[in-house]
Amino acid sequence: MTKDGLMDRARRTVQEAQHVVAFSGAGLSAESGVATFRDAATGGQWLKHDPMRLASQQGFREDPDLVIRWYSERRRNVARAEPNAAHRTLAAHERVMNVTQNVDDLLDRAGVKDVTRLHGTLVRDRCNAGCGFEEPIELADPPPFRPCPACGDHMRPSVVWFGEALPAGAWERAADTCTQCDAMLVVGTAAEVYPAAGLIDVARASGAAIIVINTQPSAASGSADLELIGPAGEVLPALLAS
Ligand code: OAD
Repeated sequence: MTKDGLMDRARRTVQEAQHVVAFSGAGLSAESGVATFRDAATGGQWLKHDPMRLASQQGFREDPDLVIRWYSERRRNVARAEPNAAHRTLAAHERVMNVTQNVDDLLDRAGVKDVTRLHGTLVRDRCNAGCGFEEPIELADPPPFRPCPACGDHMRPSVVWFGEALPAGAWERAADTCTQCDAMLVVGTAAEVYPAAGLIDVARASGAAIIVINTQPSAASGSADLELIGPAGEVLPALLAS
């Protein structure tokens, strides 16, 4: 099918769907200048750094300063970034539910009212010992490695590291949304990290049409009913245009 033919079919699928969910990953924010993890063309962090040193309990125990410095750099970068056309398009279509793996706040800043976050957020810190203390931080001026004011252990970003469970309730909420949708837009994710990537199967098993939007084929390609190759900032506005 031609590119135009694919886009027409995808548009019709979305228009006919009652419930649409956008399941997004780092590619959604790539055009805002936020680095991805596995895509060399967009700063793939895990192609340059060992994720176990920067995003695991073991890495934090071994060199907490290194971990916090890396997150501070990412936080400052996100503070400088602006939502792009893809974030703005999702915000403009309130009927599209948002489930994201992203830890930046660009969907929120674009005006999306309700985001289910599978991997936490950069805009908060929490106690690493799990005493329950957490607080908002300034992305532009992130705090250094510091003790938890409540229990004396250490503060860390409120994000999910390798080997850790998803935030309480996040999976249940996301799975509910994906079970109810008729169309899922899989936007800018390599779909390699589980359990998050399993949401594509959840939606598919519930009968939803899977529309994959990515600059290149990905692990989600095999599950796609329709695959739209191109940058999310161009494809999403075209797809959701009325
Ligand atoms: P990845 O970096 O693994 O994948 C990003 C995907 O976006 C790739 O498939 C790119 O081809 C695609 N891409 C790049 N630019 C794009 C654009 N402008 N438009 C559309 N697609 C584009 O990022 P994720 O799949 O989000 O986990 O990674 C999943 C998780 O792995 C992250 O949430 C993070 C990481 O470890 C945690 O932090 C827990």
